Amino acid sequence: MKLALRADLLDFTATPSWGLPTLHGVRFRPDHWLLVDTGRIVGAQAAGSWAPGPDWQQHHHRGRLLLPGFIDSHVHCPQLGVIGSWGAGLLDWLETYTFPAELRFADCAAATAGAAAFLDALLAHGTTAAVVFSTVHQQATDALFAAAAQRGMRLVTGKVLMDRHAPDGLRDDVAGAERDCEALIARWHGQGRNSYAVTIRFAVTSTPQQLVMAGALGRRHAGLYMQTHVAENLDEVKWVAALFPEARSYLDVYHRAGLLHERAVLAHGIWLDAHDRALLRDTGAHIAHSPSSNLFLGSGLFDWQAAMDVGHGVSVASDVGGGTSLCQLRTLADAYKVQALRGTRLNAWTALHAATRGAAEALGLAHEIGHLGEGTLADLVLWDWSHGPVAAHRDAVARGAVPGVPAQDLHARVFAWLTLGDERNLAASYVAGVPRHQRETHSELQSGATAR
Ligand code: GUN
Ligand code: ZN
Repeated sequence: MKLALRADLLDFTATPSWGLPTLHGVRFRPDHWLLVDTGRIVGAQAAGSWAPGPDWQQHHHRGRLLLPGFIDSHVHCPQLGVIGSWGAGLLDWLETYTFPAELRFADCAAATAGAAAFLDALLAHGTTAAVVFSTVHQQATDALFAAAAQRGMRLVTGKVLMDRHAPDGLRDDVAGAERDCEALIARWHGQGRNSYAVTIRFAVTSTPQQLVMAGALGRRHAGLYMQTHVAENLDEVKWVAALFPEARSYLDVYHRAGLLHERAVLAHGIWLDAHDRALLRDTGAHIAHSPSSNLFLGSGLFDWQAAMDVGHGVSVASDVGGGTSLCQLRTLADAYKVQALRGTRLNAWTALHAATRGAAEALGLAHEIGHLGEGTLADLVLWDWSHGPVAAHRDAVARGAVPGVPAQDLHARVFAWLTLGDERNLAASYVAGVPRHQRETHSELQSGATAR
């Protein structure tokens, strides 16, 4: 019940400064014990001046980084098998690769196995909470909620709404979709750590009537999320303009249906204008920036600076299978490169905050996840500072462990870690204090046998 983890603790107490890195909001506590009781964080103590008593189970990770579990604010459960599919932009990619993969989730056994594999993969990449697209199928969505409940994970998901421009077997209709959503909400919304999201694939695949139904559904039940895609690809934007000539913009299609609110998560948001950004800010909706996917599908370069200027929320997302990795370290490294192409330098603090506390705040979940504050659930990820000889050398340079090379500051070390790191750096993931992914055996964890 009582667990003490010894490591270098890193999290955020406030939103870090944009642009040049400062330590505002950054909480770095080297060589500390993080104390967890009955799945919740109850405190932290410097290891030099305090030691846990015999009633604490000790996990020795001295020399490793302990962070709050990453939050992936937009990822598709049925798309693990389409990662890295060649040669297509968004609309071709959906037809050629993605819809056929999602059709396979009509089969209950495939959907159940797919849900388990997906959540275990998230944990093995350092992500402990996610906002997830299921498929159009009610039973596949049931299986995903059930798999999350088994693992005690924080999950926001819902059945995908699609009543047009999708192949046979992947379309619903307004009345049937509403019934399926009501049944799933009754079974899962607010049960344990599960929340339901009204899940509109994108404006292309829902009729205006379905969007109106979705808006009404969102108002009928307290605390429902809404997730969708917006303004990802220029061909998509043109198609939406032709389908909804009355709307001022793509985002306005959702606004008119009453779908924008503070629990609305919209992936991409590349091709927005100043009105749209102000609307996001004013409604409290936020953008799940998906840099890996945007690069891979050639969708465009998200304007994070404009989001900062207007003041709407931004979280970061893998968008697998458009994105090429479930690992948020890789996603953040891609986010840096996207901003570099725009002439802006994303600092490591803003990047990490967007995958932890910033995402939790945008989702209204900062009382539960996203940081190492007392009272939050102990969703934790433990990372090696380096993996392999090149990263080890780079980390030694940052630490000042290479003769003749002066030590660098904390930001330089953390930035190099997130640029070079990936899931091979991950030592363990904990969900509510329970180890759910471990590279080492339990006895090694307890003894510190592989201490760095
Ligand atoms: N737009 C509509 N559906 C999808 C999807 O599955 N992935 C991405 N990246 N964009 C979409
Ligand atoms: Zn997506």
